[in-house]
Amino acid sequence: MRVLSDLKILYHLAFKPIRGKNHAARMESFYTGQASGYDDFRRRLLHGREKLWASIDVPDEGVWVDLGGGTGANLELFGPVIRKLRKVYVVDLATSLLKVAEKRIERHGWENARAVDADATTFRPDEGSADVVTFSYSLTMIPDWFAAVENALAMLRPGGLIGVVDFYVSRKYPTEGLRRHGWFTRSFWPVWFAGDNVFPSADHVPFLRHHFEPVHFSENRAKVPYVPLLRMPYYTFVGRKT
Ligand SMILES: C[S@@+](CC[C@H](N)C(=O)[O-])C[C@H]1O[C@@H](n2cnc3c(N)ncnc32)[C@H](O)[C@@H]1O
Repeated sequence: MRVLSDLKILYHLAFKPIRGKNHAARMESFYTGQASGYDDFRRRLLHGREKLWASIDVPDEGVWVDLGGGTGANLELFGPVIRKLRKVYVVDLATSLLKVAEKRIERHGWENARAVDADATTFRPDEGSADVVTFSYSLTMIPDWFAAVENALAMLRPGGLIGVVDFYVSRKYPTEGLRRHGWFTRSFWPVWFAGDNVFPSADHVPFLRHHFEPVHFSENRAKVPYVPLLRMPYYTFVGRKT
């Protein structure tokens, strides 16, 4: 019953108040009623994830950390390569989504994967360093997103890769070569998303390009389920720690 599941998700996105004394509690308050229908709806909302994984080379026996990894759906998108990794961490603060991730890991028998309840700004892998760190649609939900990127930079080994896919808006005067969004786009999307504690920023892309050597970068627009005509902007970035 996709329609019923979608209605429930839309209710949470549009009307249900988000409560909680701290960020983790607010994340859980937002996601707890959505966990079961999360993957199906987000497949139609969160674009570019497959493309991002396809452009990241993870070495055999490598360590991959997915920060704000939610239900761990990205592990499936990543495909059979998972089994060649030494360790995969799905790090998140929303316990209801982590439960879905745990079941997924168990179902697939991925003995090298772990769902971890931790903050993206402070988490470190047991191995000490990571080969790949990813954020898919999580940076816009992390208040101290700059601290999360700096944490990724610190945990990556030299030559390691960061991969990010997320919503954004451009600066009014972007660096040459980057896309410029008009006034409506720059004003509308941050207001639209703010109710769900999602904050598309004009600063993520410049910050990432400042800290990592760009390997891949693209700027796109995608449809929003049940919202005809409008197209929301998103970017994908893969960068190397030098
Ligand atoms: C839009 S969801 C994306 C989930 C998943 N990456 C995906 O592609 O489906 C954003 C996720 O970021 C998580 N998140 C937000 N702030 C976080 C933080 N400080 N530390 C860890 N996870 C966080 C949320 O709980 C949520 O699961």
